[in-house]
Amino acid sequence: MEEHLTVGRVAELAGVTVRTLHHYDEIGLAQPSSRTAAGYRVYTSGDVERLREVLAYRRLGFGLREIAHLVDDPATDAVAHLRRLRGLLLDQRDRAAAMVTAIDRELEARAMGIRTTPEEQLQMFGAQLYDAIGSAYPATRRTEPRIAARIWDALGDARTVLNVGAGTGSYEPSDRDVTAVEPSAVMRAQRPADAAPCVAAAAECLPFEDRSFDVAMAVSTVHHWPDPIAGLREMRRVARRVVVLTYDADDAGWRQRFWLTRDYLPEFADLFAGRPALADLTRAIEGRTEPVLVPWDCADGFFEAYWRRPEAYLDEHVRRAVSVWTRVGPRTERRVVGELGDDLASGRWAERNGDLIGLDAAELGLRLLVA
Ligand SMILES: C[S@@+](CC[C@H](N)C(=O)[O-])C[C@H]1O[C@@H](n2cnc3c(N)ncnc32)[C@H](O)[C@@H]1O
Repeated sequence: MEEHLTVGRVAELAGVTVRTLHHYDEIGLAQPSSRTAAGYRVYTSGDVERLREVLAYRRLGFGLREIAHLVDDPATDAVAHLRRLRGLLLDQRDRAAAMVTAIDRELEARAMGIRTTPEEQLQMFGAQLYDAIGSAYPATRRTEPRIAARIWDALGDARTVLNVGAGTGSYEPSDRDVTAVEPSAVMRAQRPADAAPCVAAAAECLPFEDRSFDVAMAVSTVHHWPDPIAGLREMRRVARRVVVLTYDADDAGWRQRFWLTRDYLPEFADLFAGRPALADLTRAIEGRTEPVLVPWDCADGFFEAYWRRPEAYLDEHVRRAVSVWTRVGPRTERRVVGELGDDLASGRWAERNGDLIGLDAAELGLRLLVA
């Protein structure tokens, strides 16, 4: 028999007051729709599901009217709400990480007697993750020619190209008509003067008509989007073809193959747990998947790039250009750097990973999705 919960019990479980629940009931937002034999109003499992969505959107800061609009939308089922909530929460976590980074930077500056400007002090509140870490990006992040060749090959004979999550313009082909989309002001400001025109927008809501471009591309960005499936569908809507470089977050195999995640940073798995599986991403663009190997001397300093050059991870510039380190937080970062430094000095890293020296390229989960 279905379990029904009293108003008092629901308030206790959800950590809200009975008064709040009565208010949601009165305005028709979330109502207990059944009654006990004694006449008390109780929540059915369906009522609880709706209430949970209401409370989660509330905690994310949505207004009650906005929430009513969201939970009444017949096109959004419980799974779609959970996916959206999850994406929004990850985004909130990234923003909190960005604020911590900005605060750490200001504390460091103050300790050295440097005063931050009023603009700098306010920036942290509007900060996207890349507004906080983006200024360190160009130090090590650039087009890797062998990976670019794979992407450009997949673009085929496309003349007009939309580059979504374009950052500072890496991987944009110079022989086509490119339009870039990038939400972070810091990243946009670092695009070279002769780079393609760039629109301030996010993947999930692209400000273009249907089929405006021959192809839409996205490189090393999908894992940052609050709602990757919605973003990929948008790419599919605005372009005839889609090319995405991402990685297989659901393949635990490569995390075990990569010594950094296996031996030093197991927390990496938590960062991306619950993100849509590669199969879901591929399905969203109705495409196919091809593995992309990481060359040993990869020119683009993304997270896995230094798999055969372990000392690089001890370099602050290398880490600051990769969001993973901000997302795991300074304490974990310090621990990893300490442990790796010790193992490199003692020869323990070389003992464990000596077989890598003979490899020119590694399969570390990078994937090209093509539709
Ligand atoms: C690792 S960088 C990659 C930049 C560039 N594509 C490259 O390969 O160098 C990730 C970029 O995704 C952007 N981004 C984050 N959320 C986004 C969203 N919802 N839609 C589009 N881009 C987003 C970030 O601002 C950042 O510039």
